[in-house]
Amino acid sequence: MLKWIAVAAGAIVLALAAAAFLLYQGADQSNVGELEFTNQLAIPPLLQPEVDADGRQIFELELQQGETELLRGKTTETWGANGTYLAPTLRAAAGDEVQVNVRNGLPDETTTIHWHGMHLPAAADGGPHQMIQPGTTWSPEWTIDQRAATLWYHPHLHPETEDHVYRGITGMFIVDDLEASGLELPDSYGRDDIPLILADKKFEDDGSLRDSKGPISPTGLLGDEILVNGTHDPHLRVTDELVRLRLLNAGNARVYNVGFSDDRGFDLIATEQGLLQAPQQLDRIQLSPGERAEIVAAFEPGEEVVLRSFEPELGTNFWEGRFSGADDSFDLVEIRAAAELAESPEVPGALARHAFPAAEPAGEVRRFELSGQSSINGQELNVGRIDEAVEVGTTETWEVENASGTPHNFHIHDVRFRVVEYAGGPPPRHLGGLKDTVYVPPNETVRLVTTFDDYTDPNLPYMFHCHVLQHEDRGMMGQFVVLEPGQQPGSPPNE
Ligand code: C2O
Ligand code: CU
Ligand code: CU
Repeated sequence: MLKWIAVAAGAIVLALAAAAFLLYQGADQSNVGELEFTNQLAIPPLLQPEVDADGRQIFELELQQGETELLRGKTTETWGANGTYLAPTLRAAAGDEVQVNVRNGLPDETTTIHWHGMHLPAAADGGPHQMIQPGTTWSPEWTIDQRAATLWYHPHLHPETEDHVYRGITGMFIVDDLEASGLELPDSYGRDDIPLILADKKFEDDGSLRDSKGPISPTGLLGDEILVNGTHDPHLRVTDELVRLRLLNAGNARVYNVGFSDDRGFDLIATEQGLLQAPQQLDRIQLSPGERAEIVAAFEPGEEVVLRSFEPELGTNFWEGRFSGADDSFDLVEIRAAAELAESPEVPGALARHAFPAAEPAGEVRRFELSGQSSINGQELNVGRIDEAVEVGTTETWEVENASGTPHNFHIHDVRFRVVEYAGGPPPRHLGGLKDTVYVPPNETVRLVTTFDDYTDPNLPYMFHCHVLQHEDRGMMGQFVVLEPGQQPGSPPNE
């Protein structure tokens, strides 16, 4: 009898091991060498604002559902703004007053639109508290008060962000300022200044978006098809020697490690919150969900080269890494240079001249421990609870520890920060600029320094969270308010 039990137990263990092996074997994904780059890369249109009598720029966005041909010959039900998939690029300059009328034309779906990276009042932020009911319009207004940067916007309804972003509502919001436009950098939108919105999807055979995840998906769904600006299998024709690429990781979970197929170098000129002080020669730039980078690359007349995402360095163990995309690589877009290229001025050796916050810990230290796949400091999000209260005008050090084996990152609304310590050492060079989202490797700590300059509101919080959207939706998110000296935190609207 005992012998039979032992045999049966042994068989079960073997079967489980075999199943785990098969899952592991099938979990890495790549399209390298499989694309033909048939389709011309779409460039999201620039949305023209109306200018009212007070000089305010008024943008109109209409959220809608529809059918889009994402894969040739198939239709996919998708969401978009002013179109059925993705959203137009908004553009405004420091000092501009803007208003965006966001009409929710989605059938029976409440959502929100968050201006990721924008420094603005909490009431205009578009986080989970600024819900837009179907058929209604939300009209936040604010004054652009930050440096030139590549920002973006996306839904932020709790706990539906992963789903709403995956369906396709994603747009860029480019902020300009005099300092940046005074530099000789490629800046003709759609010509030598190209937005690249990266989003990975999985498709069913009938073309619909798959939303079910595999049995082991620590960070959520990882798509095996990459859409760039909504274009599958894309190529981009360039006509200038130097081209600026504004990279945005708009994916739910995938980390992209972007470089060129021939390993050529490029200049990193900006991270999420604007220009670096000087360009940095790199041959890879890794972007976790929500992160942006602006790079300038040089091309030779008539050449073709592929922009590729190489296997990212996630800092995971081999098992967790396999199911989090660490072994995945993808061709993103083939760049085809014209036979004759217009001459471009060299990338300036000095970029941002304005003072950066000092790259050293300062002020009060707040600790945030990301644990498991759903909590910060041992708690899941409660939209009725204010987790942190900071005083306006103060500088603080936020110490973020990934206490799990799973990839996480960390994003703070409203502010820009500097990374002052990364995984036990000084920040690597590409993290030396101004940021709003940063990767936090498993079992490591990242220290950020940030200042809370204005926009006090005791009741309406801003969010901080992991931007792996499955984690955010599961509750790896918290709320902070900015207070006047002596003011007490109030209570968020109960929704
Ligand atoms: Cu990209 Cu809380 O957002
Ligand atoms: Cu944000
Ligand atoms: Cu996470």
